[in-house]
Amino acid sequence: MSFKYLFTEAKLGSLTLPHRIVMAPMTRSRSAQPGDIPQAMNVEYYQQRSSAALIITEASQISPQGKGYTGTPGIYSREQIQGWKAVCDAIHAQGSRVFIQLWHVGRISHSSLQPDGALPVAPSAIAATGQVFTDQGLLDFETPRALELEEIPGIIEQYRQAAINAKEAGFDGVEIHAANGYLLDQFLRDGSNKRTDSYGGSMQNRARLILEVTQAVTSIWGGDRVGIRISPTGTFNDMSDSEPQALYRYLVDALNPFKLAYLHVVEHFWGESDTSFDFIALREAFNGAYMANGAYTAESAEASLANMHCDFISFGVPFIANPDLPRRFKCAHKLNVADQSTFYGGDEHGYTDYPSMEDEQ
Ligand code: PHB
Repeated sequence: MSFKYLFTEAKLGSLTLPHRIVMAPMTRSRSAQPGDIPQAMNVEYYQQRSSAALIITEASQISPQGKGYTGTPGIYSREQIQGWKAVCDAIHAQGSRVFIQLWHVGRISHSSLQPDGALPVAPSAIAATGQVFTDQGLLDFETPRALELEEIPGIIEQYRQAAINAKEAGFDGVEIHAANGYLLDQFLRDGSNKRTDSYGGSMQNRARLILEVTQAVTSIWGGDRVGIRISPTGTFNDMSDSEPQALYRYLVDALNPFKLAYLHVVEHFWGESDTSFDFIALREAFNGAYMANGAYTAESAEASLANMHCDFISFGVPFIANPDLPRRFKCAHKLNVADQSTFYGGDEHGYTDYPSMEDEQ
């Protein structure tokens, strides 16, 4: 098909992106151990994918406590900042742009992954149903420890420091991860937040932490270099909310004064979807760019742009197996299929060895 919209440039905050295809954040669990440090193969992986209009890195923990899986990178130590600097330099050398996704997993962790074997923390002492992959194999989630009110400023400070570190590493901006059942999402939705203080109860209170983190991060970057990711209908990591449409409308209205570059919305996560949610209403309420994610194809992305339902589309799994995805879309070239067994952890195999179109010839 010929594309009228997918390959047109557009503004994302203060940046002008050459087209609408963004690489979505994806956990690949291949940082150097110990220390959760980005390493040479990560540089190669991101560089290979720099024909994306924007790369959003895999989720990166803002502190040792924010970690929930082996091998995920951090953005709090000197070594991690240096490791990310090489990634940023390689992407910039290709003329592209990269934001880092700032992450705290909250209850989606395990004491074996936490400093001093402590319990993971969360808004409330409610275990997620499900299992976590640890060094001892798959184990049930533990009941987390509810954060004390006095600890919350320290978490916000970790986000602020991570935003400073991201600047030092040379990123073009940051994405606040408020989706998929991790800490900020755990505070936002009422299935996981049963607090009775100023961070629980009303929507205003449950959104408070996200807004305070946004305040902290935009104080470093300015809103035009900050995006936020949400998943209003996602049930991954045992999430639920009693009134999602009203909750996310409140959140978007409260985010608007920060003049963020974009709202990144997980509309479908790994096959799940809730057709009752009105994503277009969220797009209309938000004053920045709307980045759609989940199960899009080149054709449905084009249609969504044509209907003005979004400004950008982020692609995840297709970028794993197709480092030159935008070009493949443009040329209607066949797509490689990603091997799920190499999604998480391991070495270069299934990571940097997927062929470009040239390699196939
Ligand atoms: C995952 O590692 O499975 C994962 C990480 C971050 C997400 C979603 C999934 O936002």
